[in-house]
Amino acid sequence: MEHVDFLVVGSGIAGLNFALKAAKHGKVLIVTKANADESNTKYAQGGVAVVVDKEDSFDKHIEDTLVAGDGLCDKHVVSIVVEEGPARIQEIIDYGTNFDMTNQGLFDLAKEGGHSEHRVLHYKDITGFEIERALLEQINSDPNISILTHYFAIELITQHHLGKFVDKSSGDITCYGIYALNTRNNSVEKILSRVTVMATGGAGHIYSNTTNPIIATGDGIAMVYRAKGKVRNMEFIQFHPTALYNPGEYPSFLISEAVRGFGGVLKRRNGDEFMHLYDERLSLAPRDIVARAIDSEMKISGDDFVYLDIRHRSKKDILSHFPNIYAKCLSIGIDMTRDMIPVTPAAHYMCGGIMVDEHGRSSIRRMYACGECSSTGLHGANRLASNSLLEATVFAHRIFEDAVMAFKDYEIPSDIPEWDETDTQLLNEDILVTHNLRETQKIMSDYVGIVRSDFRLERAMRRLGLLYDETESFYKKTKLSVKLCELRNVIQTAYIVIKSAMLRKESRGLHFTTDYPDHREDPKDTIF
Ligand code: FAD
Ligand code: SIN
Repeated sequence: MEHVDFLVVGSGIAGLNFALKAAKHGKVLIVTKANADESNTKYAQGGVAVVVDKEDSFDKHIEDTLVAGDGLCDKHVVSIVVEEGPARIQEIIDYGTNFDMTNQGLFDLAKEGGHSEHRVLHYKDITGFEIERALLEQINSDPNISILTHYFAIELITQHHLGKFVDKSSGDITCYGIYALNTRNNSVEKILSRVTVMATGGAGHIYSNTTNPIIATGDGIAMVYRAKGKVRNMEFIQFHPTALYNPGEYPSFLISEAVRGFGGVLKRRNGDEFMHLYDERLSLAPRDIVARAIDSEMKISGDDFVYLDIRHRSKKDILSHFPNIYAKCLSIGIDMTRDMIPVTPAAHYMCGGIMVDEHGRSSIRRMYACGECSSTGLHGANRLASNSLLEATVFAHRIFEDAVMAFKDYEIPSDIPEWDETDTQLLNEDILVTHNLRETQKIMSDYVGIVRSDFRLERAMRRLGLLYDETESFYKKTKLSVKLCELRNVIQTAYIVIKSAMLRKESRGLHFTTDYPDHREDPKDTIF
């Protein structure tokens, strides 16, 4: 029977990085649902936080991460990521990634919210694009790696597909690969593997307003949840404070936090600053605080945005650091060297995800999770800016080290069935799917946003329940399409977010509820 040693779902920094390492030991297949480079990674702007400066220290980076995480980080994991970070980033450089350097030949380090030092390596304001470019170049020249683009992973294959009962309480679930939709001919294929690495990224599109590209629909998290694997801390959705306010643009364009690190100041329409009313770290406070401050200002003023002002920096400096942001703003008539930039918060990052241990192992045997779809314990209740790319590289390496030790012993059962499509029909009304998606996103944006309450969460859950029932019954009767599968995943991910938020009877990090505005002592993870 055909199978691969390592199956990687997703071609962002997490999946590609793991693939390059694993390919030294076996055959790797990457399955990805769009073009190879399409990913959250490609749009990363600010950069990678890592300790490389002599003024900086591991202790400072650890402390900043813990402060941002608001009491819920796993301290051991934070130390691992911070301390192993420099070696992993050197590998990214060795793979061919460029980072900006100073005239003295040192890294040009940027600063972002919550960081006590300048420690963010970047390539202009298109760091993710540069990383994705370099990694894909390596991938394409590696004979041990194949990549299937426009293949959509639908479900994990587990004992359930062999007709066996899966008891989640026993922890006895094993992954043998995935069923994937080949979108070029609309057939579902069985892809078997000794080891599967889920690297499907985030879930920004459970909201109407997000900085994430359209691939970010929570697929990996929903798949693992359906396979009865564990997910953790899904209530912690990070809203980036400064997405460009440009009505009608979907998804939203990000104005990097590095602009604030470069001196950008948040202001009201009349030019007054306001961050001093909320936090002594002003515009560079951690994201949860800045996003809530902007939300509060918008509610007071009735405006849909606040302003970001960087006009005091020279045009030359702005152009050399932020050429992409400058060009984007100019394309809609805003010259950021002369005009203030209208900004508004947008869903940006999923801090929770598939629960993994310090080796990236999920609760499902032979299945790892890496990158934004995982919950390693690094981010706690709020991710520190630019820690995500770092985490993906550190965990890709750890997963590689763990997976190569045992993969040769893993057998694949010979009786795994093909995908069963009997009794399904071709759907001719995509519009129903689109409507349900829009409705879900609106429910999430209206009731499960930056400020929550029991009343809002209950209302969201009731409304989502209807969409869930409708979509599941539709799914059972209909031939699969990517849109339908994504809708299902968006609804299931949204469900876990609401349920997790309901269970957290306190405010912490990114989860703020007016019913329980304070911290509880002895914070706990929310685990499903
Ligand atoms: P991704 O890069 O999102 O890759 C996921 C992959 O999985 C994609 O290839 C996707 O097509 C594929 N996929 C998803 N579902 C399926 C499926 N069902 N079947 C097959 N394939 C599937 N972080 C930082 O640390 N620093 C930054 O400066 C920074 N800036 C950011 C700016 C923006 C605008 C955004 C959106 C995010 C930013 N982040 C930043 C966050 C960071 O980019 C992401 O968290 C990180 O890149 C995630 O990498 P990943 O490999 O886990 O997922
Ligand atoms: C940004 O450039 O502001 C994004 C950084 C991040 O999400 O880590």
